[in-house]
Amino acid sequence: MQKTIKPLIKIKNSFASLTLVVLLAGCVTGQLGKNNSGEYKNGMVVSAHPEASQVGIDILKKGGNAVDAAVAVQFALAVVYPNAGNIGGGGFMVYRGANGEINALDFREKAAASASRDMYLDSAGNPIVDKSLYGYLASGVPGSVDGMVEAHKKYGKLSWAQVLQPAIDLAQNGFKITKRQAGELNSLHRKFMEFNPDGTAFVNLESTWQENDLLVQKELTNTLKLIQKKGRAGFYEGAVADSVVAEMQRGKGLITKEDLKNYHSAWRKPITGNYRGYKIITMPPTSSGGIALVQLLQSVEKFPLKKWGHNADSTVQVIVEAERRVYADRATHLGDPDFYAVPQQQLLSPDYNQNRMANFNWAAATPSSSVLAGEIKGTEHEETTHFSIVDRDGNAVSITTTLNGSYGSLVAVKGAGFLLNNEMDDFSVKPGAPNMYGLVGGEANAIAPNKRMLSSMTPSIVEKDGKLFMVVGTPGGSTIITSVFQTIINVIDFDMSMQEAVAAKKFHHQWLPDEVYVEKDAIDSLSTEKLKAKGYKIVPRGAIGRVDAILKTKWGNYQGGADPRGDDKAIGW
Ligand code: DON
Repeated sequence: MQKTIKPLIKIKNSFASLTLVVLLAGCVTGQLGKNNSGEYKNGMVVSAHPEASQVGIDILKKGGNAVDAAVAVQFALAVVYPNAGNIGGGGFMVYRGANGEINALDFREKAAASASRDMYLDSAGNPIVDKSLYGYLASGVPGSVDGMVEAHKKYGKLSWAQVLQPAIDLAQNGFKITKRQAGELNSLHRKFMEFNPDGTAFVNLESTWQENDLLVQKELTNTLKLIQKKGRAGFYEGAVADSVVAEMQRGKGLITKEDLKNYHSAWRKPITGNYRGYKIITMPPTSSGGIALVQLLQSVEKFPLKKWGHNADSTVQVIVEAERRVYADRATHLGDPDFYAVPQQQLLSPDYNQNRMANFNWAAATPSSSVLAGEIKGTEHEETTHFSIVDRDGNAVSITTTLNGSYGSLVAVKGAGFLLNNEMDDFSVKPGAPNMYGLVGGEANAIAPNKRMLSSMTPSIVEKDGKLFMVVGTPGGSTIITSVFQTIINVIDFDMSMQEAVAAKKFHHQWLPDEVYVEKDAIDSLSTEKLKAKGYKIVPRGAIGRVDAILKTKWGNYQGGADPRGDDKAIGW
């Protein structure tokens, strides 16, 4: 029995559905440096939570740079946006300095040293549904704290203590939860109690959560103070590490003290590619996102999308056919580059991607069953949240960070007050068995000790004429890549503002299942009928993506795009 992709629905439901209010979310707020078109000249922070965006902008105003603000926002999100902001998960950072330097940091979780290839299979060799998704066995060794230490060490300007302080204040004094958060916490009450019988700060034992209730996190405050005082050692060693290991022992999890101590994030060379004269700077493996994003752009570049129009049937058809082929490649060729030789050069060749599109047929959908991963010659050596930040000097940071599902494994480390991830589900637990997002994989992404699980997270930065143009990224599991792709072409091909590009309705195809997921009203009824007549299976779905992005206009001002699908907020100054 294979896993069904039912949990996708859970993720889908964790994003609120679109409403007309969405249209109003174009209003970007802020006080300083604003011109009369809602743009800002000194910098901008866009994140999934207003409190976290405020923390970032305050750090910028205090003279911190984009990395200082990013570290502060990452820790603040761990407090105010616990469904995805985290210290118990991992993520990726793409950096572009004002001097043009580019870099990428991989702080993705790793499998524990005792993890094994078939750990989620039953005796008949079938995946045990939920084992990689909930509870103690679902967690990889967290990478976020090490990632922030590394990023700050390399690029930070303010002190470590300064960038940690806002998160500590929010945890200690509490913050007012949004209506959306109150609803989520109430709906997860029973699940939280199942995994945390002694209660957690996320459980209201007296009544139900209401909008504007104060969420105070005492245990998390102490953990953050230890990290503030001791840096990496405050998390990967000592009292916090002891609490993680005790938690693992309680629930027969795998993470040991050695696993924690041995965790290190990795600086990697960003993926770069060109699209219609723009340069894309994006995340390399362990993410599949950067390679897939550049593959998609190369696959559609020869087609006149602008002439056809946004989400017109021809535009949708070409994009879906490109997505089908790129996701087939993802399933076969992508995995942790420290364990698997990812054929990066061939996958990133414009000829390769244009040839992959050569066999598509305008008259009818290409069935996914007839599309395999591209042939590679020889071997080559060589509930998530996103935030985008630009500082006064023009340094830019694009970070996507995750626990995987909303509130991760739902296990909060007793005594330390933070949630552990359920990232192990991003491995291919068995060749061909779909994960929570319906993604399939094989050898490249099989579980192995200390290996990182393949991701779709696609934090990206775009340059135009050698200068900063856009900072972009989103959560959304498998839809991350296609949402970032559509946001970029919405600006480059369809001349949208940043906010319009983010808010525009999106669609998604991922090879398997052979279905086109479409947000309500993303494609008009005439185009939908034409696509159906060609054999495309159109499946309506809730929100796709939750993009937070910044665009630099030709006048040198910053435009924010905060996704109206959530509580996201852009603050400029
Ligand atoms: O790394 C990945 O691709 C997934 N763990 C991302 C999860 C995600 O985006 C959940 N949010 N909706």
